[in-house]
Amino acid sequence: MIRVGLVGYGLGGKVFHAPLIDMAPDLELYAICSRSLEKRQAAKADFPSVQTYGTSDALLDDGNVDLVVLATPHDTHAPMGIRAMDAGKHLVTDKIMCLNEAEARAMIEASKRNQVLLSVYQNRRWDGDFLTLQRLLESGVLGDIYTIESNITTFSGPHSGWRAWKKYGGGRVLDWGAHLVDQALRLYGPTLETVFADLQYRYPKDKADVEALALIHLKFANGVRFFMELGSAWMYAKPRYHVRGSLGSFRKYGIDPQEAAMKAGVFGVPVPEDPARYHLRVRDDRGQTVAQTVSPAFGRYRTYYDNVGAALVRGEELLVKPEECLEAMRVIDAIRLSAEREEVVVLR
Ligand SMILES: NC(=O)c1ccc[n+]([C@@H]2O[C@H](COP(=O)([O-])OP(=O)(O)OC[C@H]3O[C@@H](n4cnc5c(N)ncnc54)[C@H](OP(=O)(O)O)[C@@H]3O)[C@@H](O)[C@H]2O)c1
Repeated sequence: MIRVGLVGYGLGGKVFHAPLIDMAPDLELYAICSRSLEKRQAAKADFPSVQTYGTSDALLDDGNVDLVVLATPHDTHAPMGIRAMDAGKHLVTDKIMCLNEAEARAMIEASKRNQVLLSVYQNRRWDGDFLTLQRLLESGVLGDIYTIESNITTFSGPHSGWRAWKKYGGGRVLDWGAHLVDQALRLYGPTLETVFADLQYRYPKDKADVEALALIHLKFANGVRFFMELGSAWMYAKPRYHVRGSLGSFRKYGIDPQEAAMKAGVFGVPVPEDPARYHLRVRDDRGQTVAQTVSPAFGRYRTYYDNVGAALVRGEELLVKPEECLEAMRVIDAIRLSAEREEVVVLR
């Protein structure tokens, strides 16, 4: 068994990491670190056998910890992660990997230097709707793909806490954007050619200094345009995905149901999604457009930790590789650069 030390017991640590680590066949949830006594008590109540620590240094000093998981604000991922790897620990950090490409390279260098595993919790590779979209694209039912829209549009106003401030790595691009960019790269990654981004800063200065709206446009060598829209002033949410191809269109509303289930305390079981959220229209043999039913795939975040355990114990191929996350960080840097200069950034 690989003994895991989890740092951070906020939303991510408590809902997205601890329960799934606890379920993974090759992992043992061994220790949880939080500076807050209340959160340490909550961790102990949730998992009575765990050690609790008040500082990450104390957790790193524990020789029993094999793998450190960071569920902490984004600005801490690189410095804390490199410290953990230099202490000989394997490292999983929640998304976003870190703040920029330079930090990502330093993290990969630390993992090579110490010969430890490095991976990023890109759980939304296992969103049911993303798996469904991949299946549809592979089936060819939509024909040649022209555009894919991938949106997270809510009516929620500025974030609070660390997510509202640039210095902590806040903002929508580094938060949900980390998932959307990762998904775009999974579909057509190596052929990404250009990035254009428009970021709007509309929040009151005393509440947040991060972008309120992000419009991002990726162009791939095969002609596909991948649009992302992230914002918090939509009373009518855009579709989560909207794909247009030469033979059909696919549209899906709403966010994968696993997060809501996990927040309600339901872990590790398939969570069905309402098929009414899925819309597919294709051209039939007689040239008519017809609606088709889509059977949504089940999402499965557990796969991430099952794989990390299997990679460490049995040498299975790691599914979320650090080099893929480095590529995503290059795109994130390009998004910021494009918005700053108001120009298209050419990546290859
Ligand atoms: N993959 C997903 O779907 C998903 C969903 C939610 C969150 N996340 C990710 O989870 C990570 C944390 O987000 P969150 O929503 O859990 O935030 P959160 O609720 O604010 O919790 C952050 C945790 O980190 C601890 N912390 C804060 N600053 C720290 C520092 N400088 N050093 C050490 N610990 C520190 C916090 O304080 P204490 O030390 O007081 O405990 C808390 O336990 C982020 O990377 C976020 O993107 C991912």
